[in-house]
Amino acid sequence: MEFGLAIRGDVEFDVVGFGLNAVDHLCVMPEQPEYGAKLPIDTFKLAPGGQAASAMVQCARLGLRAKYVGKVGGDEIGGFSLRSIEAAGVDTSDVIVAEGVTNQLAMIIIDGRTGERTILWHRPDEIATVPSEMTPEKVCAGRVLLLDGHDAPAAARAAELAREHGSVVVLDAETVKEGTAELVANTDLLVASSRFPSLFTGEENPAVALSLISEAGPSFVAMTLGEKGAVALGPDGDLIASPGFKVDVKDTTGAGDIFHGAFIYGLLQGWSVERTFTFSNAAAALNCTALGARGGIAGRDEIEALIKRDGRL
Ligand SMILES: Nc1ncnc2c1ncn2[C@@H]1O[C@H](COP(=O)(O)OP(=O)(O)OP(=O)(O)O)[C@@H](O)[C@H]1O
Ligand SMILES: [Mg+2]
Repeated sequence: MEFGLAIRGDVEFDVVGFGLNAVDHLCVMPEQPEYGAKLPIDTFKLAPGGQAASAMVQCARLGLRAKYVGKVGGDEIGGFSLRSIEAAGVDTSDVIVAEGVTNQLAMIIIDGRTGERTILWHRPDEIATVPSEMTPEKVCAGRVLLLDGHDAPAAARAAELAREHGSVVVLDAETVKEGTAELVANTDLLVASSRFPSLFTGEENPAVALSLISEAGPSFVAMTLGEKGAVALGPDGDLIASPGFKVDVKDTTGAGDIFHGAFIYGLLQGWSVERTFTFSNAAAALNCTALGARGGIAGRDEIEALIKRDGRL
């Protein structure tokens, strides 16, 4: 199946991403701590993440000209987050630094025996982006605009602007909130996480839910399914399945973000849906082999080596 979209080429960036950035404080523990416990941490890692930011880092790693638009806190954690994006070769010239505000962060307690995790997170209201902060200069400079649906009213405005200016809008749909329906209506390609289709439509059957979403606007709809890979809605309402890759999984955090980065790469290469999904599944699986939301980001050779290993290239 082909994507069948004309994508413009006359802009400064291949892709612009607007949405979350965050910093995870990962603590791998010998066991899940009881309330009031005092325990040594086996492994600690300060790991940058956030859906849109991590997707842009994967895009840059694949050689795309990528730009991240969003807000970071004016604190040390915000600085760490911003530097991690910049260091990956992603343009951050339009990132807003919110002085006096703490960056989005999470404390993640991982049970080293099972991989089960307890997540404590913090996102101050002041870090939210509002629709008036979305200008064409910021969000229309790419062939593709990636949105993750957080700050949904601002994302919906960005999608509207991007379409007016000829960028293709890709949505990593995860949560349903005020503004999500407007955002979906202005999306061209929607690749949801597994719970979104039923949350958004109230329909449990994935094929039916994805069909309802496509009626709401996007010309292409799909969902990721964790280790099972991903499915896309075919032209006849059927599901096109692309299985996941078996790897030595250390941490699945950020897998969906990396999937979306690789997905945009395949889209811009003019690949078929099948080839793009195989590539995206492989990139996401590799990211799961190391700790952190961007722990195992790989380049094209490494991703294609995994695809070849399974005879899928
Ligand atoms: N255990 C795993 N083994 C191999 N690949 C995986 C595994 N978990 C996830 N993936 C890959 O990552 C992709 C995205 O995973 P998932 O559907 O869990 O995303 P998500 O719900 O958005 O999660 P997150 O928000 O943590 O990124 C899958 O389509 C698959 O390619
Ligand atoms: Mg996700």
